[in-house]
Amino acid sequence: MRVALVQFEPVFGEPDRNFARMAELAAQQRADVYIYPELALSGYQFIAQEEAYALSEPADGPRMDAMAHLASTLDACLIFGFAERDGTDLYNAAAAVFPDGQRLVYRKTHLFYKETLFFKPGNTGFFVFEYRRLHIGMAICFDWFFPESYRTLALLGADLVAHPSNLVLPYCQRADFAAAVQNRIYIATVNRTGAEHREEERLEFTGGSVLVSPKGEYLLQGSRTEEAILVADIDPAQARDKQLNPYNNVLGDRRPAQYRLG
Ligand code: ACM
Repeated sequence: MRVALVQFEPVFGEPDRNFARMAELAAQQRADVYIYPELALSGYQFIAQEEAYALSEPADGPRMDAMAHLASTLDACLIFGFAERDGTDLYNAAAAVFPDGQRLVYRKTHLFYKETLFFKPGNTGFFVFEYRRLHIGMAICFDWFFPESYRTLALLGADLVAHPSNLVLPYCQRADFAAAVQNRIYIATVNRTGAEHREEERLEFTGGSVLVSPKGEYLLQGSRTEEAILVADIDPAQARDKQLNPYNNVLGDRRPAQYRLG
């Protein structure tokens, strides 16, 4: 089972150009699952609701169909962030699109900073799906800050958390070590590179995408600034073995009744 981390620099407001770059990078390496950054089609830093609306699209919109066509061409599952429109509501979402055109959408649970001005908090909850016998869960960027996100996905049976990101803080790539070990899962944090400067604010993204194994090995690490497609083979059996030693099971040993707040 080969996973590709597609780290690139989306250009704000140019979804056709971004789509072309996503396809171009994917064509460089074969994989079963390709993971891209958060808001990969639109760019990140919206400054007006109308703009966010104009750069959003429904899960069955034409660009999503183009991504499904790309999934079919690559014979792979593509996971990427996009601004989802549902009626008049907008969500910071991640889609998993499959070669047969089907798609699943996860809506970001924990919105970061000014995303709260443009998007509604996600209402899908976390879920896990199966692709080529790999159990995959999705989380988006700031979701990582809340241990409940990865924990929930691990308890739901995820082998791999696909984590499209637009990180501006330096912590996540290192924190993934603890989350991967604590939950015995693979984590693929796929971050964008470059910067966006809109009105008075400049945001610099930290790149450095990582794939971390259930034992905390950094199987892949991207550079801070360069675009790249990084690939590695992963073994779901490693994530399914939750036994730390003959006495301890990392999920089975939880004591929820003892985690009372009062
Ligand atoms: C983030 O959630 N984009 C930091």
